[in-house]
Amino acid sequence: TAAPPSPPAQEEVAPALESLPLETRCPPFPLRQLNGFWLPEITLAAGVPALRARFTPRPTDVLLASFPKSGTTWLKALAFAARNRAAHPPSDPDRHPLRRSNPHDLVRFLEVEFALAGEHASGALGDEFEALPSPRTLATHLPYSLLPERVRSECRIVYVCRDPKDALVSTWLFTRKAAPAFGADAEGFAFREAFELFCEGRSICGPQWRHVREYWEESVRRPGGVLFLRYEEMLLAPRSSLRKLAEFMGCGFSGEEEEEGGAVDAIVELCSLGGLKSAEVNRSGSGKLPIDNKAFFRKGGAGNWRNHMTPEMARRLDRIVDDALRGSGFAF
Ligand code: A3P
Repeated sequence: TAAPPSPPAQEEVAPALESLPLETRCPPFPLRQLNGFWLPEITLAAGVPALRARFTPRPTDVLLASFPKSGTTWLKALAFAARNRAAHPPSDPDRHPLRRSNPHDLVRFLEVEFALAGEHASGALGDEFEALPSPRTLATHLPYSLLPERVRSECRIVYVCRDPKDALVSTWLFTRKAAPAFGADAEGFAFREAFELFCEGRSICGPQWRHVREYWEESVRRPGGVLFLRYEEMLLAPRSSLRKLAEFMGCGFSGEEEEEGGAVDAIVELCSLGGLKSAEVNRSGSGKLPIDNKAFFRKGGAGNWRNHMTPEMARRLDRIVDDALRGSGFAF
């Protein structure tokens, strides 16, 4: 008789949604907890299963990963502009795709789009991803441990992290803007409540520090497979961050020719907050995500949390994060 089939790897088994702990106080989505992370129900019900069933990773894929509101839009713009600079010279910004399309339409979110598409449209969406020419640049907010094993082993990953206090403030403000698009009301969602929930790890893809730690540890284990970037370092040193990113993606800036031609400077300028924010498409347009493009661009920068948090609140969150990151070799 044939040997019994080996059981699927633990993380490939989808537990019944109703069996997972539920959190309904974080608009705009009900969240469920899986493997220690709080994720929107639709991500677990539709996004992750479709990612497993409908997406075939390629070794040439680069996946941009992040906790929400940590610089994803910026990273997408930089990666797209760097990768496609031969076809779309950044020296001609007026004709650049980033002037006509929001970064989220140029570098597509995997599980987010699968979740929004729902089961009936996931096949067509899978075909769309399949039709994208190699090398593909795609994005995810999923924690490392919830990525399908094939994605982890096939794709190279670039992760961007941000000070959790700024990520929290950015999330809270974004939620208030985006909630109506998902039929939710976040008008009464006070910052104090968002803060308490965030401290318990209860936010989309939270706990933030655990999300960061997983990718950090993998970047230490496999530096050729996972590049770990920090939003605050990108603010301080955008040019060297861009060079590092391009090098990792396999499209490094070569020699003086390109430097002298100003490609690095032109991309940094094109992808700056001001550069993207001023494009008409980002002032009044919308794209594949059901959110106005302008919601993705606010103040940027580091330290905006000071306008919303008391020093005592900041100390409390810092302590939680420091404790959770102890022993990882990473600190904010
Ligand atoms: P703030 O809300 O603090 O302004 P994400 O792209 O992951 O959704 O993160 C959004 C945050 O990144 C927002 O932060 C937004 O203003 C900022 N941001 C968007 N585009 C940026 C860019 N090109 N450069 C720097 N920050 C950017």
